[in-house]
This record gives sequence, structure tokens and C-alpha cells, in this order.
Amino acid sequence: MKQITFIGTGYVGLVSGAGVSDFGHQVVCADIAKDKIAQLQKGEIPIYEPGLGDLVKRNVQAGRLSFTTNVDKAIQEADVVFIAVGTPQGDDGDADLTAIFKVAEMIGKNLNHYKVICTKSTVPIGTGKKIIDIIQKDKGEDKAFDYVSNPEFLREGSAVKDFLWPDRVVLGTNSEKALKIMQDVYRPLFINETPMIQTSIQTAEMIKYASNAFLALKISYINEIANLCDEVDADIHEVAKAMGSDGRISPKFLHPGPGFGGSCFPKDTKALANLARKKGIQLRTVEGAIEANQAQKERMVEKIKGFFSGNISGKTIAILGLAFKSETDDIRDSSAIDMIQALLDGGAKVKAYDPIANNNMSKLFPSVVYCKNWEEAVKDTDGTVILTEWREFRGIDLEQMKALMNMPVILDTRNILPIKDLNRLGFQYENVGRKGNVKNDS
Ligand code: UDX
Repeated sequence: MKQITFIGTGYVGLVSGAGVSDFGHQVVCADIAKDKIAQLQKGEIPIYEPGLGDLVKRNVQAGRLSFTTNVDKAIQEADVVFIAVGTPQGDDGDADLTAIFKVAEMIGKNLNHYKVICTKSTVPIGTGKKIIDIIQKDKGEDKAFDYVSNPEFLREGSAVKDFLWPDRVVLGTNSEKALKIMQDVYRPLFINETPMIQTSIQTAEMIKYASNAFLALKISYINEIANLCDEVDADIHEVAKAMGSDGRISPKFLHPGPGFGGSCFPKDTKALANLARKKGIQLRTVEGAIEANQAQKERMVEKIKGFFSGNISGKTIAILGLAFKSETDDIRDSSAIDMIQALLDGGAKVKAYDPIANNNMSKLFPSVVYCKNWEEAVKDTDGTVILTEWREFRGIDLEQMKALMNMPVILDTRNILPIKDLNRLGFQYENVGRKGNVKNDS
């Protein structure tokens, strides 16, 4: 059993720290944010992440997981230190590494015996070397450490599952000693033969960016094919299903929508494209995915405006779904932000409902009317836009919706509503790539 410290208690640090404690190790999650740590010490979870509460509670009760603001002490006592602080997008489109380098300095100053230093945060390719240099500079001459790049592949809303049952563990290090220690950290995964990919530090950093950028590209690709389906009366669901039957393509991440959001795809694609340009390489595919994504968000605005011949002034529009996807309250880069801004700019009144993200969006758009359920949100509105695929939106009673609205007008950006019923009830509707002669309205 190892003594392990995670620095940073965001959704990566908290999920990974609780997950590693579940593997049987002694874990301390450290953060300078006093309020966050106070919440965690009271057994409250500061973020919405299904299953995280139980995972934390189980391991705190077992005495394997604790929380502290004393980062220095947490580093000193650790055999393995994970860096899991945020790397938000800076103004220049690159990742802001201020927090990363600050933590590296703290590690150097507290290197009282051999440790493995492991970066889980998503950092630009080449950052590992900079972290090593900072620690080298600040540590005493005789203090040894090894460095590992161990990127995460956690999706918000399924982060606990993604951590405990990963497709692979990537370990970027040139130290056999550190590799053995990391295999012990991930012992339960190692035993059930989860692929443990050992590679160089910079290759591990590249794997993270290349994976995320590819997933973003896949989404922009299916979104553009869906837009063409609109024009040729093809059904994107049938297209995606048939494409996904090809093992080389896989059915995952082929769901068209209003454009990707979140704290990763937008930031990571821009950081990768920027880094490439600085190296004299243009990533036309990644740049294309970024451009197509912004265009998709704008296309959704044009679609809802299209119901009113472009003039939404004085209309009341309901937005169902505010977070960047379902199962999360995170609104970072959500398509709802572009949609609400455009509706307000066009003189429309906006009502909104999201099962858990109302509060976060109200900080950005206080003039929007936030409702406690979809029925209240659509009542007396001239149109409705569905932006996330919450189960409760899939089950909407369309007859009741029609009765509540001034006009039966709906933009379903997630293609979750049964088209046959929309037709039968006389809705004017738009979606993403399913306007055509839809064979089945699954
Ligand atoms: C992503 C990566 O999936 C994860 O591996 C990485 O560690 C962090 O970034 P996340 O952003 O949390 O995870 O959620 P994800 O489920 O990937 O969705 C990202 C965005 O893409 C959301 O806006 C979602 O609605 C959209 N999306 C996803 C689609 O539009 N279509 C899809 O088929 C899948």
C-alpha cells in the first residue's frame, strides 16, 4: 500500500484520488481552496459527478481517503504525488500552466525523500520536461525523484466508471523503478490486464491530445454529414448506425448535436492546433474540427430563427438543457451559451430548464427565466430548443407540450424526440440530419 497525494480536487483530482484509494492505497487529496476542502471534510461533494459521493464516502470511512489544505505536508508524506490542477485555456488559446508550475515548485521544496511525480492534468506536449526542470532546480542536491506523465481519459458524467474501468492506462516515463511503482498504484487494473502502455513522457502527452482532438474531429465530422443529410433527405441515424457497424469506425461519438462543449475538447483542440503551428505544422483536420464546431453552434441559432423568418424579436423561447451535455452541471463552452446570447441579442425572451445546471447558467445570464421543470419552461412559449439529451427530455409528453406552448415549434438538436409523433401532432420541427423521409423514428 502506497502513501499517495493528489494535488487539485477538481473532477480529475477528486475522481482519480478517490479511485486510487479504492484500489487500497492511502490517499490524501490536497487543495489550496479552503472552502472546497472544508466541504469534502464534511462529506459534501463540491462537483456533480454520478457515483462520486459513494466512492468518496466508502473510502473515507475505510480510512484510506482524507483531505487537506496543507499541500506541503501532503507532498512530504507521499511516495507518489499526482499533479491534478487545472490547465484552463489562456487568452492566447494555449493552456494556462500557472498552477502546474506553482505545484512543481512546491514539490521541489518538499522533496524530502524519493518520490514519483505524476502529472494527470492535461498539459501541452513538452511540459513534462519543464516540470522536471523546476523540481530539479528547487530540490536539494541529494533528493531523487522520477517523473511520469499519466493522462486521464475521464468524461464528465461518467468519470467514476471511466476511472475504475479504463480502456487503457498510459504511463509516460523512462524510469523502470517509477513504472513498477505506477503498476502497483494501478494494481487492480494491472491484474485484470487493462492495457498499460509505457512510452516516453512527450509521447504520453501527445496520446492525450491526439485522442481528444480525434474525438472532437469525429463529432464535427458527423455534425457536418448530418447537415448535408438535411439537404438530401437522408437520415443521419441510419447513416451513423451503418457507419458504426464498421469496426474501424465504431458507433461511439457519432451522435450529431449542437456542437461540442465542455472543459476539454474546445480547449485541447485549440492548444494542439496552436502548438502545431508554433512547430511549423498545420493541423488542418483539427483546425477544421474547431471551425466546424463553431459553425454548428451558429447553425442551431439559424434553425430556431428560421421558424420565425429570422425575426425572433418579442418571441418567448424555451431552452431545455443548459450544461454542455446531460449528466453534468458544467456549462463551460456549452452550446446553450451561444444560443441564449443570440436569442437575447435578437430581442427574444428566454425561459430555461436544466435538471442540475440552472444555477450555473443563471450566473452568466441573470435575465433568463429559470424554471423547475420542462413543463414550466415551455408554458406560453413560441418555440422550444432541446440542447441536451437528458432522459427526462426523451420522455417528454408531446401532447402536453403542444397544449402548453403558444405554437408547436421545436428544435431538437439531439434528435431524441419521436418524429412520427411530432408529425402526427402537427409540430413544426427541426433537428440535426433527420428532416428527411425517416424510415423509423427510433
Ligand atoms: C472528453 C473526452 O471524452 C474525455 O476522454 C476527456 O478526458 C475529457 O474530454 P467530456 O468533455 O467530459 O470528455 O465529455 P464527452 O462525453 O466527451 O462530450 C464532450 C462534448 O461532445 C459534449 O458537448 C457532448 O455533447 C459532445 N458529443 C459527444 C457529441 O456531440 N456527440 C457525441 O457523439 C459525443
